[in-house]
Amino acid sequence: MASVVRFGIIGTGGMGQGHCNMTASIPEAQLTAICDIDPATAKCVSEKFGVPAFAKHTELIKSGLCDAVIIATPHPVRPAIAVDCMKAGLHVLSEKPLAEKVSAADTMIAAANATGVAFAVMFQRRTEPALAKAIEIVRGGQLGRLFRRTMISPEYRSQAYYDSGTWRATWSGEGGGVSMNQSPHILDLFILLGGMPCEVYGRMEIKLHRIEVEDLAEGMLTYPDGGHGYLYCSTNEAGPGQMIEIFGDQGKLLYRNGALTLYRFEPSVTEYTRTATGMWGGPQCTEVPVEINEAACGHGVITRNFARHILHGEPLLTPGEEGLASLELANALWLSASQGKPVTLPISRRAYDAFLEKKRKASTFQKGEVRVQRVTDPQHVI
Ligand SMILES: NC(=O)c1ccc[n+]([C@@H]2O[C@H](COP(=O)([O-])OP(=O)(O)OC[C@H]3O[C@@H](n4cnc5c(N)ncnc54)[C@H](O)[C@@H]3O)[C@@H](O)[C@H]2O)c1
Repeated sequence: MASVVRFGIIGTGGMGQGHCNMTASIPEAQLTAICDIDPATAKCVSEKFGVPAFAKHTELIKSGLCDAVIIATPHPVRPAIAVDCMKAGLHVLSEKPLAEKVSAADTMIAAANATGVAFAVMFQRRTEPALAKAIEIVRGGQLGRLFRRTMISPEYRSQAYYDSGTWRATWSGEGGGVSMNQSPHILDLFILLGGMPCEVYGRMEIKLHRIEVEDLAEGMLTYPDGGHGYLYCSTNEAGPGQMIEIFGDQGKLLYRNGALTLYRFEPSVTEYTRTATGMWGGPQCTEVPVEINEAACGHGVITRNFARHILHGEPLLTPGEEGLASLELANALWLSASQGKPVTLPISRRAYDAFLEKKRKASTFQKGEVRVQRVTDPQHVI
């Protein structure tokens, strides 16, 4: 039985080079080939890591050098590459978002199911130690019935960031803005904690940047349990403050910059509301200490888990099909914003494809000077 998985990295820009570095640190992984359509990038990365480079993913597949691939191209080209790799029997670890539209993500999931290859999505923030605790609290029922879920996500980016690639922040190259590229991780955590809404009323805006897609996305949410929610993400907002807050009948949980604060209500809000005789006051609210266990986190944990899944059947931390929900939410925000009314989930694939096609065809946006930089965020724990 093999003791390592031979990895090919497809798309060796900022994030892809991060994956090349990371693969070297994983005992169960070996980097054996890379692929990039940009010849200069392919040459440079190939020389740096001492592995063959291919200009097309089909050539990498044919080489027989890889058992698995990590696909870190811009998202709209990812689905076709993933499906080709899966059909050739290669296991696929997809960068986030899986695709720019849910119909394409559906195709990837169907191909993974049909071929039986391993399929995962790079949601490295699922490895944050506070998340496991937060899931235990919410799903264990400590908050009681959920009334409100709120997500605020400052994801600041400069104009230079957007000008670092021709594909960035365009309808053709990305198919969306902050909801599509910067927010999939926090949207994923928000859904893991609060569940999936059944109705979304979205509003999108371009505020500070010279781009074609939104730099501010917000949504009013309704949940199957009758609860409500609100989300706001923006590449205009600087500073810390990324947070998810969940308010339930018996408590309130705040997930802020990786830390947790938990409050318990005694009695529950419903009981107090019905039984209190006084005009003022509210249920007693006590902060409950939360202990978070230390754990390794970041991209490397996901890739190692993926390799160990292939080699030893270790359960996947980030199954590919779980990449659909955050994309569904992002697409729902745009579909609703374009119609000026709430949409129900799951959204119509046909309606979203038609919306995106119309946006792409109608586009007259001219990018300013593009100064290509293939450098990923140094804050990423590789
Ligand atoms: N998980 C994370 O934290 C994280 C962080 C950054 C980026 N990403 C994701 O990674 C993807 C790439 O982002 P980036 O910042 O590295 O972009 P980038 O522009 O730096 O790199 C993309 C690379 O893909 C190559 N490419 C384009 N089409 C290709 C094709 N058909 N075949 C092979 N190579 C192709 C480009 O030449 C480029 O080198 C995006 O989808 C982004 O959302 C994820």
